Amino acid sequence: MIYTKKDIEHLDRISRLKIINAVTGIKPANLIGSISDSKISNLAIFSSVVHLGSNPALLGFISRPQTPEVGHTLRNIQENGSYTINHIHPSFVENAHYTSAKFSQEESEFEHCGLTQEYHKDILAPFVKQSTFKMGMQFIEALEIKHNGTLMVIGEIQKLIIDDSAMVDDDIDLQASNSVGISGLNSYYALKKIAQFPYARVEELPKF
Ligand SMILES: Cc1cc2nc3c(=O)[nH]c(=O)nc-3n(C[C@H](O)[C@H](O)[C@H](O)COP(=O)(O)O)c2cc1C
Repeated sequence: MIYTKKDIEHLDRISRLKIINAVTGIKPANLIGSISDSKISNLAIFSSVVHLGSNPALLGFISRPQTPEVGHTLRNIQENGSYTINHIHPSFVENAHYTSAKFSQEESEFEHCGLTQEYHKDILAPFVKQSTFKMGMQFIEALEIKHNGTLMVIGEIQKLIIDDSAMVDDDIDLQASNSVGISGLNSYYALKKIAQFPYARVEELPKF
């Protein structure tokens, strides 16, 4: 099957959304925790978290345009700069999915979706207790992507909390940490590590 730019543009909204959300391949499954200045906690699933650099340790995620119903995560981050990124595991993947429902700003997804808030020293925003792989983040800047009105929200890791079992030979092993991957907007995958290679040097190329 081949889709031209015109075919893509002429797809109905839902078909286009489902296809284009899946074309990047597997995306990381994370819950972003935040809290408003009026102390209402918020939790939402995001598949767009991306590594931006290791020194300083920067991560970004894409926040779609705010509407009256959606965008509480961004609003909270703009209020106090604190948020957490929590890996999703199979044991609570369904709970995590339903955090994408349009709850009002006065409601906490933690409560409605059966997930537990956990607070750590020096990080204002709530972590997800059930997650064994999580990061406390400090907002740095938001870049507007003018072409579609989305924002790339950039933050620096302040605290990294990983279960010991996820560290295998000084490497993070996402199979061991039981982290989950996402395709599109509603399909979740377990991860299986299939290979590990040394740093690639031209002079050390295997014979292909
Ligand atoms: C699998 C999945 C991945 C999602 N990824 C993103 C994302 O990367 N960026 C985004 O803005 N919304 C994403 N959403 C939608 C948000 O979860 C949804 O809009 C949510 O209500 C936002 O919550 P908030 O208003 O509390 O911030 C995703 C939804 C699902 C189901």
